Amino acid sequence: MQVHVADHPLINHKLTYLRDKRTDSPTFRRLAEELVTLLAYEATREVRTEAFDIETPVGPTTGIKLANPKPVIVPILRAGLGMLEGMVRLLPSAEVGFLGMVRDEETLEVSAYANRLPDSLHGRQVYVIDPMLATGHTLVMAFEFLRDLGADDITAVCLIAAPEGIETVREAVKDIGIPVTLVVGAIDDHLNDQGYIVPGLGDAGDRLYG
Ligand code: PRP
Repeated sequence: MQVHVADHPLINHKLTYLRDKRTDSPTFRRLAEELVTLLAYEATREVRTEAFDIETPVGPTTGIKLANPKPVIVPILRAGLGMLEGMVRLLPSAEVGFLGMVRDEETLEVSAYANRLPDSLHGRQVYVIDPMLATGHTLVMAFEFLRDLGADDITAVCLIAAPEGIETVREAVKDIGIPVTLVVGAIDDHLNDQGYIVPGLGDAGDRLYG
């Protein structure tokens, strides 16, 4: 698994305000959307394209366009919804599938309560978006769903991640058997006993949607 930390002053600046507990929901939503646009720039570096002939006012040239089948964006509900607009803005022709997953606050076990993915992901690049990678169990379960539907290339975009969660995902990906790339805005210090990223930003779902 390749891990990219998108280390950029604008990303760090916006993450600082996102982390600040004084930041209200409307501002949090705006920052999450802006951040995903910046991270998506890095995450789509390997998006598949094909040659495309055009004429400029001066003459013919060959450019590129997104290849078929188009990529699929999968926000993990709830908090991943806060990143959807920003991602779709960059990849407007992508299809969108949804996964609803929640972790039990006591046991940290993950369960899926909604699954609205395309019938087949065969041969498709998939971009999973979720603000937080904490224990990593949510992403691992999401990757298994996507692999079972035929996805052959997955990129996960997270605003922040815990080192412990990244290691869990890295181990699991060895068995998942398809290329996985992780793009994060920051890798934080650690995961606490309650499964929260430290320093983190609290509960992204609650801060986005109350
Ligand atoms: C949060 C977050 C991730 C998950 C990460 O969602 O948005 O989906 O936890 O945790 P993990 O890496 O330990 O699995 P949550 O379960 O709080 O649901 P919500 O988005 O509906 O608030």
